[in-house]
Amino acid sequence: MSTTRNIVLGVTGSIAAYKAAELTSQLTKLGHSVHVVMTADALRFITPLAFKTLSRNPVVTDLYDEEESWKPTHIKLADEADMLLVAPATANIMAKLAHGLADDALTCIALALNPKAKVLLAPAMNGKMWLHPATQENVATLKKRPLEFIGPEEGMLSCGYEGIGRLWPVEAIVRKVEALLA
Ligand SMILES: Cc1cc2nc3c(=O)[nH]c(=O)nc-3n(C[C@H](O)[C@H](O)[C@H](O)COP(=O)(O)O)c2cc1C
Repeated sequence: MSTTRNIVLGVTGSIAAYKAAELTSQLTKLGHSVHVVMTADALRFITPLAFKTLSRNPVVTDLYDEEESWKPTHIKLADEADMLLVAPATANIMAKLAHGLADDALTCIALALNPKAKVLLAPAMNGKMWLHPATQENVATLKKRPLEFIGPEEGMLSCGYEGIGRLWPVEAIVRKVEALLA
């Protein structure tokens, strides 16, 4: 078992959101404390119950969800995180991160994140969305920061097209997380 680390797992509104459940399970089994933060759109794809059960931690679904503490939950998570992993990361979340928007729990955590925390983004989207100049400019902006991308990979996309845009395999994301936290 590896050393326990605090991982904030951002789950966004992609059809690949169900794969974040397996990611949560594998990271938790490795001994990490996984704190899932879902966007409002992610809630359309998968329920918080899956993440709560698999991570054994409360799931943040709203910026105004507060634990019984004086400190806002998103600030506590941002302070204590060893890693912010966003998987799957939508085109929308990358645009928001690139431009510093802070209109939900996940984007607020990203801005308030302690500087020692690693950031790993695992995009998943339709190939045209990924290749669109707007998305590619946002990716280029984000790559100037101390963060890493994993994927997307090529293959059959759930939107029915073949191309680039698939979430990187969960096992490989787990290996990357372990390498970054080592
Ligand atoms: C069935 C369906 C699947 C979607 N899959 C993706 C996806 O894989 N990647 C993506 O960037 N957007 C996808 N979208 C669009 C996003 O859900 C939408 O942009 C949303 O605003 C993202 O919000 P969030 O980034 O706050 O979670 C999908 C939408 C629908 C209806």
